[in-house]
Amino acid sequence: MKKELKDWIVPWLYTSREYNVGILDKAMDQPENARLMLNENPIPPSDKVIQAVVESLRHGNWYPDSFLRLRTKIGKMYDLGPDNVALCNGSSDTIDAMMRVFLQPGDEFILSTPTFELFPPRAELCNAKVVQVPVREDNLNYDVDGMLAAINDRTKLILIINPNNPTGVFIEDDDLLRFCETGVPLCVDEAYLDYNPDRPSKAYLIKEYPQVFLSVTFSKAYGFAGIRFGFVLGTEEMIAAFNRMFLPWNVSRMAAAAAEAIIDNPDEVKAKVEHNNRWMDIFTEELKKLGLKPYPANGNYMLIDGTMTGKTTEEILAAALEQKIFLKKIGEIHGKTGYFRVTPGTDLENEKFINFIRSYFG
Ligand SMILES: Cc1ncc(COP(=O)(O)O)c(C=O)c1O
Repeated sequence: MKKELKDWIVPWLYTSREYNVGILDKAMDQPENARLMLNENPIPPSDKVIQAVVESLRHGNWYPDSFLRLRTKIGKMYDLGPDNVALCNGSSDTIDAMMRVFLQPGDEFILSTPTFELFPPRAELCNAKVVQVPVREDNLNYDVDGMLAAINDRTKLILIINPNNPTGVFIEDDDLLRFCETGVPLCVDEAYLDYNPDRPSKAYLIKEYPQVFLSVTFSKAYGFAGIRFGFVLGTEEMIAAFNRMFLPWNVSRMAAAAAEAIIDNPDEVKAKVEHNNRWMDIFTEELKKLGLKPYPANGNYMLIDGTMTGKTTEEILAAALEQKIFLKKIGEIHGKTGYFRVTPGTDLENEKFINFIRSYFG
């Protein structure tokens, strides 16, 4: 009997969760709505970055090389060498590659939940099992004991996002070490660390724990979500493994040029971080005044518990949309249905958000 197309396709393509990108087209079609739902940076790239990209186009006919100068600069930022750095097309590229580097069908990947929703589908697309350990009920911190207890012979990869998305909390250093000590491959995702200039990266861990790697992106504090640039930090052996898994030309000349230009101009990132952190303080204060519970603002997003107001996340999002504001829906956490998440936008958008919360919850 003739097979249908779907019969040829690997079955886990259909059983794995889908990452929903629908909001991107919607937001593009409705520019009048404030984009406070996606952990983007509201400040566009500087003229220096744009100029560097334009210049890079002069060699747009050549395949990208391994960008040794750029890898050397990034390595120096972390006291590492160029061969400790694998460049990629944003850290979603790392998320995808790490599953394929470590997971065979039936293997297990442990992470905390709620989380960035791209992680589970990329593991499921390897036909691996996703073991989701809920955050602690009392403070939404990582349930470190629960995650460690979930490790078994099939566990091949563990994820710690630091600070965590969407809860905003950092893991304690001692707890992170407990994961390192297990010897199981560990991804420490530092997508949002740059919003905390006083907190050093955990990249030094790779010197003692060769199974640890760091995932870094320029989509957040650097504001490159649409340019697409990120990297993995690890031992030379780890980086060689990622480079085998990444496509040879996963980073365009344009993205690499933009990355080098912004690294050479740290004031640009500083200004973006200051804008974010200033508004985070204002949001925190306003939300508290209204009796809501904001979680730590250690990234460019804030998880807010509005359950005590009797509103559900769907109701809050719908009311915000009426005021032309997109917010992020957060699923139920430990039976509570009133969580939502906001990312600071431009000054005008942020004022709009404050007016919304005052009128809706006030
Ligand atoms: C924790 C975490 N890691 C990675 C990413 C992906 O970022 P990108 O692929 O844009 O680098 C995100 C995006 O929101 C995230 O929250």
